[in-house]
This record gives sequence, structure tokens and C-alpha cells, in this order.
Amino acid sequence: MAKVEIELASIPEGKNAIIKWRGKPVFIRHRTQDEVQEARQTDWKALRDPQRDEERTKKPEWLVMLGVCTHLGCVPIGEAGDFGGWFCPCHGSHYDISGRIRKGPAPSNLEVPVYDFDEANNLLVI
Ligand code: FES
Repeated sequence: MAKVEIELASIPEGKNAIIKWRGKPVFIRHRTQDEVQEARQTDWKALRDPQRDEERTKKPEWLVMLGVCTHLGCVPIGEAGDFGGWFCPCHGSHYDISGRIRKGPAPSNLEVPVYDFDEANNLLVI
């Protein structure tokens, strides 16, 4: 019922899109090869909420996350912050290009919702 379908061809490489799902923003980033490489080369074991980029994405070029800061729930800003990802202006949390918390008060990474791709390259957020 609350399923949302997005045509991924409408999001160019290097761009973000934001959709609404169950009343929350969902961030979709069409990552460049450089961004994927950066996300995958990060020393993830040293992070506050250690997670591999591979665990956070089903296809490397598509990053899909809830746009809700894990500190107190503000909506972070895209293409901002010290780590090339998102910045939450409420209290200064910085997330990287995999949505992982890197600096500031947020305790954990931006949450990845349950999603899938269909044969026509649409994204389904379930
Ligand atoms: Fe994002 Fe506090 S709500 S840093």
C-alpha cells in the first residue's frame, strides 16, 4: 500500500532526488564512479557505526536512504558537509557519500529502507 515506484532514468549521474514515502523523505543518489570508489575505500571499521558501503547498496551507483538525521530527526542537506555527502544543519552532523555518520552528534548512519529494482530499472521502496 505504501509502496513507491521511481523511474531511475530520470535521475542523472551525480544528482540527488528526494521522494516522499510513508510521510518521510527518501534520498536517492545516482553516484558517480568516483563516489562509489570513495565510499568503498573508506576504512569502515574505524567508523562510529561501522558498515561497508556494499551492505548499504544493492547496486553501487544507487544509494537509497531515509532522509532523516539519526540524531533528532531533521532533514539533512545533500551535497554538503565535510565528507562529500549530507550535512544536518540542526546540530552539525556530517554524513559521507554512503550516508554513514562521520562527524557530529548523530549516533548512526542514515537508515536504508527496504527497496528493490524491477526489470525496467524502476526503484521500488517497500
Ligand atoms: Fe541532525 Fe541533530 S538532528 S544533527
